Parts: sequence; structure tokens; C-alpha cells
Amino acid sequence: MKIIGITSSPRKSGNTQRLVEHILIGAQEAGAKTELIRLCDFDIQPCTGCDVCKKDGECIIQDDMEEIYQKIKESDIVVFGSPIYWFRLSAQAYPFIDRIYGHFTPDFSCDMPKGKKIVVALTCGGEDIEDMNTTNDYLKKVFQYIGFVDAGFIWQNNCNKPDDLSNYPEKIMEAKQLGKSLVP
Ligand SMILES: Cc1cc2nc3c(=O)[nH]c(=O)nc-3n(C[C@H](O)[C@H](O)[C@H](O)COP(=O)(O)O)c2cc1C
Repeated sequence: MKIIGITSSPRKSGNTQRLVEHILIGAQEAGAKTELIRLCDFDIQPCTGCDVCKKDGECIIQDDMEEIYQKIKESDIVVFGSPIYWFRLSAQAYPFIDRIYGHFTPDFSCDMPKGKKIVVALTCGGEDIEDMNTTNDYLKKVFQYIGFVDAGFIWQNNCNKPDDLSNYPEKIMEAKQLGKSLVP
């Protein structure tokens, strides 16, 4: 079993990355192979809407998106982590999401094998958790559109400094348990 953690936080080793990593650690302990992808470490240009992919079947942009897409295709589960920026995902998430469009045929079927699982992990600085729920719903909608099945949601609010997640040891335990529970 292969589980890929993807984080769209630009802050290295911040709360979002740590939350995702704890899920991956739990999964590793249960025998899964895991990999962490920081979107910031990759060159992913925004979709230009040229629609060449709908005629030629391939995106014309030459960057790292294809590498990440192939890693997702080869995995069983994706854990997608993001900080809440202005009530929704951080900017780094959107070029990645938009570029999935390049894998849709003109009839809007997608070459992603169906039945993979998606887990969402979010952090935010404020008290309010409403944006967590709407952002989870949004990400689930995106991944379900390409055939993924909902496999969980975990979040922590009140995370402002990069290591604030460590103030919540029970959340760290929950993340590890969630990771373990993903492995049959
Ligand atoms: C540009 C920006 C916008 C933010 N917007 C929100 C917000 O709308 N709501 C909130 O609760 N926190 C907001 N935050 C705080 C982050 O969500 C929070 O610090 C998060 O844990 C950062 O994750 P990281 O440690 O992985 O970078 C914002 C932070 C930044 C830098």
C-alpha cells in the first residue's frame, strides 16, 4: 500500500506539514509505504485554459505537474494538507488542482484509476472552524470528481506559530491513529 501526503503549505515543517507527517507515520507503522510532497518544492504553473489537452490529450505546459500526477496514479491513498488562507486553501494548492483538468478527455472522463482514497488535513490560526468544513467539502468535491472516495478529515485550529500543533498532543495521536486506520 502506498500513501502520498501532499501539502500546499509554503511553510516548511509548519503545522500542516507536521499534521500530514503524523498521519504518514501512523500509516508507516502499520506497514504502508509513504511519501511526502511539498507542492512548494515543485514547479507547477497555473492552467492557461488553452484547451489543447482536449484536442491533443496532453497539457502543453512542461513542468513538474506530470511527475506528481503519476505519483498519485501509482498510490492508493492521498492525504492532502493545506493551511487555511483567507477562508480557503493556500495559493499553492490551486495551480495543482487546476492542472488536473489536463487529464480530462473532451467528454470529461479522467484517466485516474477509480476508488483511491482521499484524506484531508487542515490547519488554521483562528478559533473559527467553519472554513475548515467548507474547505474540506471543496477538496472532497475535487477528488471525488476524479474518482476518489472520502477516507477522513482532520484539522487543528489555533495554529499560528509553526510548531503550535505540538500544543495538541491528542491531535497528534488522532493523526497517527487515522494513518494506521488507513492500512488494512
Ligand atoms: C496569508 C495568510 C492567510 C491566512 N488566513 C487565515 C484565515 O482565513 N483563517 C485562519 O484561521 N487562519 C488564517 N491564517 C493562519 C494559518 O491558517 C495558520 O497559521 C496555519 O496553521 C498555517 O499553516 P502552516 O504552519 O502549515 O504554515 C492565514 C495565514 C496566512 C499566512
